[in-house]
Amino acid sequence: MRVIGIESSCDETAVAVYDADQGLLSHRLHSQIAMHQAYGGVVPELASRDHVRRLLPLVREALAEARSDRESIDGVAYTAGPGLIGALLVGAGFAASLGFAWGKPVVGIHHLEGHLLAPLLEPNPPSFPFLALLVSGGHTQLVDVAGLGEYRILGETLDDAAGEAFDKTAKLLGLPYPGGAALARLAETGREHSFVFPRPMLDRPGLDFSFSGLKTAALVALRGRVLDDAMRADVARGFQEAVVETLAEKCRRALDVTGHRCLVIAGGVGANRCLRERLAEVVRGFGAELRFPRTEFCTDNGAMIALAGCMRLAAGMHDGGIINARANWQLGHSGTMGV
Ligand code: KG4
Ligand code: ZN
Repeated sequence: MRVIGIESSCDETAVAVYDADQGLLSHRLHSQIAMHQAYGGVVPELASRDHVRRLLPLVREALAEARSDRESIDGVAYTAGPGLIGALLVGAGFAASLGFAWGKPVVGIHHLEGHLLAPLLEPNPPSFPFLALLVSGGHTQLVDVAGLGEYRILGETLDDAAGEAFDKTAKLLGLPYPGGAALARLAETGREHSFVFPRPMLDRPGLDFSFSGLKTAALVALRGRVLDDAMRADVARGFQEAVVETLAEKCRRALDVTGHRCLVIAGGVGANRCLRERLAEVVRGFGAELRFPRTEFCTDNGAMIALAGCMRLAAGMHDGGIINARANWQLGHSGTMGV
């Protein structure tokens, strides 16, 4: 089974070829960040138009790198949601057309399923079941992953996603969009404990998160001060510590309540080194394992969509000719746990 995967849910156009026996054969990505930077955020219409321009050349490149052609491809996978509806429709329409022209099955993938399964692209992949912390620009969720398509949301953010909080605070610190990675770099030179931010929701039971207050706390901390580089670094450090501590404590509770012995970190914020180090300590306390994808597969990419598509098509799941694009789409079902 060899599948070509297409990701176009937001500001990255990405295409990859994954083979069930040989693993990842190729992956190509075009980031639109430079195009959106002037606006301080993603402009949906510009994103859609750029996906239209980029998809076909990227497909050609990915096929060439994988030494594949239409005959050797067994299926087409694409991100069906959630995301920007125009951007999703470009990918969905494109994938459906490829499948129709090539006479191959097509499968729409939940973007977050892609992120959850991304660690399976690495050597020594995790096996089901596992606990996943999904931390991206749009989502923050703790997910009980029992198997392919068997996802139970244990907790999620009530307002901003962790990545969104990183990006908004980075903007306050004068860093260009999306500032998550830049804020993390700045935090490295900040002094520990010079700014102490609240740890949202830690005083309450349960596994939900809330990050919008942190951005306000950063705003209050900065108010009336002359911002020099050292202080910006201190604020970045204090902010990052608060996010990481909160995520780590919720992961500890979730490992405790589920009994899982493998924690997977997925999504863009999963690239954060401080978060990885802190979660490594948490899993050690349980004698559990920590798994995460390589940095380039933490953020949006086509490889995770090709992999998820390969697993789904191998399990006999496909769209049956329907073009599926959903801006809002919940992953799995929610369940409260008594923690
Ligand atoms: O998963 P992703 O590429 O896109 C979504 O599906 O949302 O995640 C992007 C998010 C952005 O908010 C970005 O600032 C954040 O991940 N991010 C980071 C780091 N690298 C990317 N946040 C904190 N530390 C990082 N090193
Ligand atoms: Zn994503």
